[in-house]
Amino acid sequence: MQPDLKTSVQRTSQFIPDAVALIVETGRQAIARSGLFRLGLAGGNTPRAVYAALAQQTDALPWDRVQITFGDERCVPPDHADSNYRMAYESLLSQVPIPEGNVFRIRGEIPHEEAALECEARLAAVAARLGEERYAHDLLLLGLGEDGHTASLFPGSPALEETVRNIIPATGPKPPPQRITFTFPLINASNLVVFLLNDPKKEAILQGALQGKFPSGKVAPTHGRVLWLAGE
Ligand code: 6PG
Repeated sequence: MQPDLKTSVQRTSQFIPDAVALIVETGRQAIARSGLFRLGLAGGNTPRAVYAALAQQTDALPWDRVQITFGDERCVPPDHADSNYRMAYESLLSQVPIPEGNVFRIRGEIPHEEAALECEARLAAVAARLGEERYAHDLLLLGLGEDGHTASLFPGSPALEETVRNIIPATGPKPPPQRITFTFPLINASNLVVFLLNDPKKEAILQGALQGKFPSGKVAPTHGRVLWLAGE
């Protein structure tokens, strides 16, 4: 099955610079259009090098116009080695002049439902201010798990069935199991979703996702598009 017209694959031997260029260009266009760049960060390990390279280009974006969200978070404190926030803070957020209020950290250290609702309220306030039915990321970065999961939407999870809420608690086989994740409604409200993968061992999973398999293969922005940026 061919990907639909809204899905494309970009293979690159320059994964990190290409990913940084994509973030910067998308951000500049968003800020020119609306004065704001709503950027969702992926967790896991792959993005760390991209975020660090982006931080080296501090002046590439007006960071006071950038709003940061997290596609998922592990239910651990922000200084825990497994925290997606910690990874983003160390590689990027501590290196650029982004106002603290622009970073919508999911507080993994508090009761899960409370953390999800707290972040949901922050997104809803921005969406209401912008006249949106649902918060729309300009760019949402996602990873691809070896079982085809993305964010913390794992195969067989009840979280895959959520059709109303934007952020919910979830569990998964990838440790740590307790997480909080974006749902398909929020993901699919994005203008651009970019999957970052830089591991040839994920090629088979990528092919499966392009055929609509796995949770990652079910990402289908209503008005936006999907780009798979695959390092080779
Ligand atoms: C998480 C991530 C998860 C990740 C993939 C890929 O919190 O674990 O959000 O979805 O993006 O598992 O992880 P790697 O980049 O480490 O392969």
